[in-house]
Formats: sequence, C-alpha cells, structure tokens
Amino acid sequence: MNGDGESAAAAYARHVNDGLARLLSFMGLDAAAVRAEGCFVWDEQGRRFLDFLGGYGVFSFGHRHPRIVAAVTAQLERMPLSAKILFDKPTAELAARLADITPGSISKFFFCNSGTEAVEGALKLARLASGRSRIIYAENSFHGKTLGALSATGRDKYREPFLPLLPEFTGVPFGDATAMAKALDETVAAVILEPIQGEGGVIVPPLGYLAEVRELTRQRGALLILDEVQTGMGRTGYNFACEREGVEPDFILLAKALGGGVMPLGAIGGTPEVWAKFEQNPLIHSSTFGGNPLACAAGIAALDVLQEEQLAERAAQEGEPFLARLRKLAADYPDLVKETRSSRSRCWSHSRSMRRK
Ligand SMILES: Cc1ncc(COP(=O)(O)O)c(C=O)c1O
Repeated sequence: MNGDGESAAAAYARHVNDGLARLLSFMGLDAAAVRAEGCFVWDEQGRRFLDFLGGYGVFSFGHRHPRIVAAVTAQLERMPLSAKILFDKPTAELAARLADITPGSISKFFFCNSGTEAVEGALKLARLASGRSRIIYAENSFHGKTLGALSATGRDKYREPFLPLLPEFTGVPFGDATAMAKALDETVAAVILEPIQGEGGVIVPPLGYLAEVRELTRQRGALLILDEVQTGMGRTGYNFACEREGVEPDFILLAKALGGGVMPLGAIGGTPEVWAKFEQNPLIHSSTFGGNPLACAAGIAALDVLQEEQLAERAAQEGEPFLARLRKLAADYPDLVKETRSSRSRCWSHSRSMRRK
C-alpha cells in the first residue's frame, strides 16, 4: 500500500502512467516487487517470481550480488557522491580496470548514468574527433531514447512520433557489408553498431561482418562505435561481444550490467586518438552524477565478480544445454516457435578474455 492506502498498481495508473499500469495488469504482473535476490523477485504477498527479464539486461550478476552490495554499502558510508573538487579514487580505479580488459587500445573512459547517455556522448565525441558529421547506424538497431540515440536507432515504432530527428543520420541494413561499403564515404564521422542486436530480437550478424565494417571504416577514415550496453560484461560468452571477431573499435559503450545490478552506471571507452580533442577541452562534455563514487564502487566489484567467477566462460558453457533444449522445443513445436536465436553459435572460438595492454 502507498501513502493514502492505494495499491502500487492504482498509484501507477493515477500518477505514473496509466498505459503502463494497464499493460502490466494485462500480463498478470500487477503485484509490487518488494525484494530480490539472485534470479528471484518477491512480491508483497510473498510470491516468488523467476526473473527471466533481468531488468532489460541489467542483472547478469543476479539481484543483490553480496560482494557488489558490500562494496556499495562501504562506499555509501564513506562518500557516495563526488565533491568535484578532488579526484575520486573509485572513478580512477574503475577506469584503469576497464582499460585492462577492453579491446585494443581503448584506455580512456567517460562515466555516465545510462546506456543512452553513453550513446549521446560517443556521438558527440566522434564528431569532435573526426571533424565530420554524418553517422551511419543499422536498421532494427536500438541505442536508446534520448534524441541523439534515437536518431541512431533503427526502430520506426520509437522514431516516428518524434520526427524529424537529428539530420545526417543514415540507416543501412544490419549484417550487410556491401550496403555499409556503399553508404560509407568521407563525410562519415562514425558507424554505430550493436555487435548483436538486442532489443531488435537477438539478431546475430554473419561471422566476419564486424571485421569487414572495421576494415571499411579504417579505409574511409570513419570511426567505429560499438554499443555493448547489452552485450558487454560477459553476457555473450566473452567479456565483450566484439572479441568474437577480434574487432577493436574506436569507442566501446557500456551500461546495464556494468553497475553490477546494484547501481546505474554507463561508460564510454575510447582510444587515446579519439580522446585527444576532448582532452584539450575536458569540460565540453560532462555529467554531474556520472562517475560518482557509489556507482564506480559497484562497477569495480562487478569486474571482480566477472573475473573471479568467470562469468563469460560460464555463460558460454551453461548456455549450450539451454540452446540445445530450446532448439528441440522449436523442432517439436514448429507452429508455436518460429526460430531459436542465440548470441552464440558453435563456430565461436573462446579466445581472449582478459589481457593487459
Ligand atoms: C544496445 C543498447 N544501447 C543503449 C540502450 C539504452 O540504455 P538505457 O536504457 O540505459 O538508456 C539499450 C537499452 O536497452 C541497449 O540495449
């Protein structure tokens, strides 16, 4: 019950969004969550739910992983938010730790609070670094719902009510290197791609696509932004999905599971080259709450868990039996199951996971 005794569902309908309240009620999910642990969520009446949604990809470490909760609690007691007048140790440590495991020469980080903010910042930094303006994105992609990220999102249902979006954004079919080659010219600042399209329906591009796009961007002097907001942090059997093809982007974007399922946290990772102009004018892009010590403490603990519990390796191993059973279900019930898609296929070799630069 809420303040005046009404249920959470009724308060959502009156004060948050009636459409959302009706949607959850229609799906039989009109109970209020009060507690969560591991892969379970409990409602007010003590009913336990197996959480298959994972907060849209946030809970790769489960709900309230004890190590991450302990790190955040300890930081909360010391200093949750930045005074902005001195350096913040958790921010410094998280950036250094990410530099150790992100691909190629990515070694600089800007922290923010969400995936869409990471996309916004990367689009700006790509324009700044390249001195060019055009952005190429993939059809059916999802990069977030703020105006810049939405302009790079290839989903009409989210775009249409807000047209016109930002100029100089061009959509191309996902997984089609020929179409990419046609669109890429010397006006293009950056190509932004998800290594595997998440919200668009777990669409895995053909093996070799990312590497071809990487080569094309190099040839044409454009930058490559890989949005690993959903695929990062071990989810696909690699720390970052671009490791599948050994692709080294100019920017890597992280959020969702980066905060360990305890704090909101996003990050833009970039190479020293793409950071150079930003470093000449470091306040040209900033965030009041981005990189706060509380969120960064969660991020550091999340990296500890990722590495020590070998989450990427385990996702790869434990995903296989699930996939086999789901494929069998699809074969047994072709009228009900159209297709089984996975972020992994047997041809993926498990190569580099951790390495120092
Ligand atoms: C690939 C990708 N990029 C960006 C976003 C936006 O993240 P957020 O909802 O944290 O703004 C999402 C969210 O689903 C996503 O899947």
